[in-house]
Amino acid sequence: TIRSSLNDDNPLFRQANKIMMSRDDPDHARLRMLVSRAFTPRMIERQRPFIERISHDLLDQMEHQEQPDFIRDFAIPLPIMVIAALIGIPYEAMGQLKQWSDAGADFLGKPTDTMEVFFHMASAAIEFNAFIRPHLEERRRQPKDDLLSGLINAEARGDTLTEDELIANVYLLLAAGNETTTNLMSNGLWALLTHPDQRELLCQRPELITSAVEEILRFESPSQITGRHTKEAIEIAGQSIGPDQSIMLVLGMANRDPRQFTNPDHFDIQRQENKHIAFGLGGHYCLGAPLARLETQITLPIVIKRYPYLSLASHKGHWRKNPTFLGFETLPVTLK
Ligand code: HEM
Repeated sequence: TIRSSLNDDNPLFRQANKIMMSRDDPDHARLRMLVSRAFTPRMIERQRPFIERISHDLLDQMEHQEQPDFIRDFAIPLPIMVIAALIGIPYEAMGQLKQWSDAGADFLGKPTDTMEVFFHMASAAIEFNAFIRPHLEERRRQPKDDLLSGLINAEARGDTLTEDELIANVYLLLAAGNETTTNLMSNGLWALLTHPDQRELLCQRPELITSAVEEILRFESPSQITGRHTKEAIEIAGQSIGPDQSIMLVLGMANRDPRQFTNPDHFDIQRQENKHIAFGLGGHYCLGAPLARLETQITLPIVIKRYPYLSLASHKGHWRKNPTFLGFETLPVTLK
């Protein structure tokens, strides 16, 4: 397949092979530790006022749309604006960032290795390199309080990120977090609108937002599938799997498993025992989970408080055709 032929002979592939998601230990642990040094919980929490402000700004703009679309007008721009601000990328590059991030998400998300998806990804990576290198140069000369400067300075046990590792993992932060967070916010709004009792409950008891976001993650998991490759033969739940096999792990299905969850097809924002695996599990557990949670815990209450009569528009939204990422292509709404 195209993906498995990505070897280090080509400089672009060499860089792509440096994303932490596709590495094993000890490489993985090293990259993850270095990136975590810059992408800290404190840095994420500091985005709170910015997220609140842009939520209101985007909603103000959405009110002027003839047909507001929650995806186009809110759930797409918000995560892009937040991650761009965190990384330290100028606001004007937002449109391009979305295109590059989509190319990455398509490459990760579409199971078929078509040449079209591959070339799209490769040209996005080339453009991203050309875009980001001058910003890196600038930060080397004059560090700022952002992720790029933090990654340049990240050091652990005398080790630092190489330029390839740095660019590849900034690209990963961009691509891994946009579509998934767009989907978490909009799947959440959809779940609340189609379960009016739960929406009413959240309005009455706003403190339930934390467990509500966990329930949205479980009920309509934005990342439905992840993958692993076996190094040796293993047995899981009575199934024998040989060595050198690619395995698809359907997280969305595990999150509806009746052996794990009582009444799994029931959307219950007060669910107590909710050990979902929407962010994965183990060493590769989602690095951006605190950011995705924060964004959704802030934005959904703002939306439902500001528009008590918000409803789905008469012409329905439709789900995207991507088996990995579960989310809407469009979600037309009536605000008032
Ligand atoms: C609702 C939003 C999100 C969901 C559902 C999600 C889901 C996931 C999942 C399932 C994995 C694990 C893959 C595996 O084990 O095979 C993962 C890994 C990862 N995610 Fe997220 N993610 C979200 C948001 C974000 C955000 C906002 C960022 C960063 C800005 C991010 C960055 C990453 C990174 C860097 C990894 C790789 C971690 C590693 O390999 O050690 N994610 N994500």
